[in-house]
Amino acid sequence: MVNPKLSHHPTICYRPIQPSDLEVLERIHGDLFPIRYESEFFQNVVNGREIVSWAAVDRSRPDGQSDELIGFITARIVLAKESEITDLLRYDSSKSDQTLVYILTVGVVEAYRNCGIASALIRKVIKYASSIPTCRAVYLHVIFYNNAAIHLYKKMSFKCVRRLQGFYFINGQHCDSYLFVYYVNGGCSPCSPLELVTVMVSYMRSLLKTVTTKLIKNEDRKVPKWPKRTETNSLILATQNRRISTAECSVYECV
Ligand SMILES: CC(C)(COP(=O)(O)OP(=O)(O)OC[C@H]1O[C@@H](n2cnc3c(N)ncnc32)[C@H](O)[C@@H]1OP(=O)(O)O)[C@@H](O)C(=O)NCCC(=O)NCCS
Repeated sequence: MVNPKLSHHPTICYRPIQPSDLEVLERIHGDLFPIRYESEFFQNVVNGREIVSWAAVDRSRPDGQSDELIGFITARIVLAKESEITDLLRYDSSKSDQTLVYILTVGVVEAYRNCGIASALIRKVIKYASSIPTCRAVYLHVIFYNNAAIHLYKKMSFKCVRRLQGFYFINGQHCDSYLFVYYVNGGCSPCSPLELVTVMVSYMRSLLKTVTTKLIKNEDRKVPKWPKRTETNSLILATQNRRISTAECSVYECV
């Protein structure tokens, strides 16, 4: 999709953020976010110090701007046991090296929005996280009123798992944030609704089985021995099932 605000057809490419991006990166962060980031953060991004990042550039952009950032994403690896979402993972204490990827910032300049650029940048992070065998999830915070970003994360199948009261402090005001998680490499919440249903169904089935067995035993006690034996034998012949056959033996012996 092409944004009508653009006077040309863009050719979007993605590449790592590099030291020459420093000035534009700082400027765009200043334009897009209500939070001020320290210069150390930008230095770490452009030099790849403990932060991974991707830039989006428009190769068709005129006036020598074909390598200038029009979008970016920054993220870092954190240890799962030291993160705030340890309780949202099925944490295996024997695997203390489990990691997560935390998205720090993502943004696209206004003229290039709604072209799928942020989606593509997030997919890069998901692919990167999936390539790390110890990584179990990608997660991030978003301010509660940022509808465009919330729509984007939901569209990308992130799960909104928590609302954090007063997480951000902006212009002297506390604002809530949502916590979104995208599980990778088989990482999942300790008890997802699906798991809960599965556990309940298997519990109900075993309960039903126990009750049925008890009822059958009670019935058996009421009827004479020989007819029952004949019935059981015909069942065995009909099914040719070894497990039933074994069961039949024990029943036969017990009777
Ligand atoms: C959020 C942001 C990164 C999205 O970038 P983008 O390149 O436009 O994202 P995409 O094109 O991949 O997807 C945008 C989706 O959001 C939808 N959207 C845009 N504005 C919206 C709004 N106000 N409310 C709801 N949905 C909105 C679009 O329709 C599109 O969804 P669709 O594909 O289902 O139609 C961009 O708006 C931005 O940079 N905002 C300022 C910085 C920011 O808020 N960053 C996130 C901080 S957590």
